[in-house]
Amino acid sequence: DHLSLDEQIEILPYDTRWEFPRHRLKLGVQLGAGCFGRVVKAQAVGVKDSEETVKTVAVKMVRSQTNVAALEALVGELKIMIHLGAHLNVVNLLGACTKSVIKGELLVIVEYCRFGNLQTYLVGHRTDFENQVDEFGNLLTDAEMQEMDRSRNGNANNQDQIQTSSSQANLIDQDVSACPEGSSSSSSSGEVSPGADTFGFYQQDPENKVSHSISTADLISWSFQIARGMDYLASRKVLHGDLAARNVLLADGGVAKVADFGMSRNMYYEGNYQKESQGLMPVKWMAIESLTDRRFSTQSDVWSYGVLLWEIFTLGKVPYPGMEANHELIRQLEKGYRMEKPDFAPNYFGEIMASCWKSDPKERPTFSHMEQQISLQMESTV
Ligand code: ADE
Repeated sequence: DHLSLDEQIEILPYDTRWEFPRHRLKLGVQLGAGCFGRVVKAQAVGVKDSEETVKTVAVKMVRSQTNVAALEALVGELKIMIHLGAHLNVVNLLGACTKSVIKGELLVIVEYCRFGNLQTYLVGHRTDFENQVDEFGNLLTDAEMQEMDRSRNGNANNQDQIQTSSSQANLIDQDVSACPEGSSSSSSSGEVSPGADTFGFYQQDPENKVSHSISTADLISWSFQIARGMDYLASRKVLHGDLAARNVLLADGGVAKVADFGMSRNMYYEGNYQKESQGLMPVKWMAIESLTDRRFSTQSDVWSYGVLLWEIFTLGKVPYPGMEANHELIRQLEKGYRMEKPDFAPNYFGEIMASCWKSDPKERPTFSHMEQQISLQMESTV
């Protein structure tokens, strides 16, 4: 096949079975915003197998209806989602309102994930995190863990934290003043920090205040589920292009879902957005060959997965602490520099990370291999 991915998207048909009547959708508060898009909470009547009942959903839209490139990117993401099909570990499409797309309005309805994005969630749980890994990187045995529980005299665990109320909704509207408008990008900040993502940036919904303490077992479970979701994407020949903790969402039952696939490639790598600098590129998550030669593949997603694991096991730290996302970082990576295994990571996750960051993309593991590895480890520890 000789078509570029963009050309392939172009000819993908829009399947009208996904069309959802606009009047059955009631838009609510904003959940997240980036330079080009925003996501709002909404109520939908009778969306995707929910008969006539009301269902809480998330709706993606462009920020500015005059930004044609952003609109095209969202159309591309919609088509990719239709092509992709459903999987537990991806944020699934529920419907779309495309009737006014000529006027610049496109609403893409996806599953609502009430615990928001993984990066923010991890940071919010640093104080109640239950570490089950010793100083040598070994997982504690059940007996050792019980001993720990006893010595903590029944305090911390299982205490649902009720955050105190107030009108946080406004806080969610992130400062995006630094974002370039449309294609006239002139950003030179060099780094996409969590919170200044282009389309991403998901916050925990302020209306959902109950959350639980987390442990190493949760970190391992999310790592596994994300590998599963990515394996599914890879099997459907879809590149993510911006895999990072900010683009993983958490739903009920400890379910992790990969979000925002397909969008980033349009946004960063082929549109007018990249311009001269690396202004909008998630440099710290990008594979070496993407940085040097703009080569993207499932194997470059594997590199990003390694960085995402690092984020998970540092409870949401920004990768390469103390380093800027600039040419010096790229030079160091080319020279073979890599991050160390985080203290909270079991040794085998250190090995997985290192293998994800092999310079030769072909030497990196596949998502399906990592999924299997992690599940074997889970079996032998739980
Ligand atoms: N923020 C962005 N997308 C979201 C989703 N699908 N569910 C919850 N919060 C979100």
